Amino acid sequence: MTITELQNEIIRIKKEKDICILAHSYQAREILEVADFTGDSYKLSVDASKAPNKTIVMSGVRFMAETCKILSPEKKVLMPNPHAGCQMADQMGKELISEVKKQFPDYTVVAYINTTADLKTICDVCVTSSSAVEICSKIENKNILFIPDCNLGAYVAKQLPDKNFKLLSGGCPIHACVNVEDVKKAKELYPEAEVLVHPECTPEVTAMADYVGSTSGIMNYAVKSDKKEFIIGTEISIAEHLQYMCPDKSFHYLTLKLICPNMKATTLVDLYNCVNGTAGEEIILDDKTIADAKKCIDEMIRLG
Ligand code: 13P
Ligand code: SF4
Repeated sequence: MTITELQNEIIRIKKEKDICILAHSYQAREILEVADFTGDSYKLSVDASKAPNKTIVMSGVRFMAETCKILSPEKKVLMPNPHAGCQMADQMGKELISEVKKQFPDYTVVAYINTTADLKTICDVCVTSSSAVEICSKIENKNILFIPDCNLGAYVAKQLPDKNFKLLSGGCPIHACVNVEDVKKAKELYPEAEVLVHPECTPEVTAMADYVGSTSGIMNYAVKSDKKEFIIGTEISIAEHLQYMCPDKSFHYLTLKLICPNMKATTLVDLYNCVNGTAGEEIILDDKTIADAKKCIDEMIRLG
């Protein structure tokens, strides 16, 4: 089958089976084209909870599919490629954070959404990269233990100097490997371009950027901007999507190190096999995990 034939089949089957397809903005263009909703992890978590369909297919990584299941436990939630994990989400488990919490009993535990459902069960509030500053600003407690991403945590702490942040040394290995030299080189190559980066990059890198924001934030900024040239400091797919969306502008990768193998793991064929019922994995979480993890996601939606 050609790509278009595969896409047409996916569209036909999803209608026939009442399936809603969600795709994170880092997914390939041919996947985004057949999705009902696309966007960053915050937008998708809200879209998933509002979708009327009985089955949700989450084309992204595992923590995103788990978040859909937590918000819609009555729905069948499938991920097309079960190997699509997230290196950051897999870094910290419940046992470790339970121990850390004992050292900081008067801290509100804020979990980046890039965490497992199991870890969310012992956290107080969830945040995403697009909502972290706003949500942390609305938390009454001055003391915040922010896990697992120390780079996003440092970025939020800088915006909220009145809060007292404790950070652990976790983070996204893909975004964290961008360095100052990479930014200098890209700026030398494209001196007219604005630098847009994700807050999962290090503080040294975000300090050199013209704009810091989530995947959707970066896309919206570039689309609306009067500027014509941009250096994109997040997963390389975002520069590609923007180039399609804005053919009159130029988008450059900050560095080719910004390739997430997990986000690239899901293919259009995986999606086709998932909707036709021959592949994929159903997300199964026990009732207690769902109920406990939901509290911190509900708190995010309430404050956001
Ligand atoms: P967003 O919250 O911007 O969607 O990012 C998710 C992610 O995994 C970034 O690496
Ligand atoms: Fe996880 Fe980093 Fe990939 Fe995002 S880019 S899914 S944080 S490993």
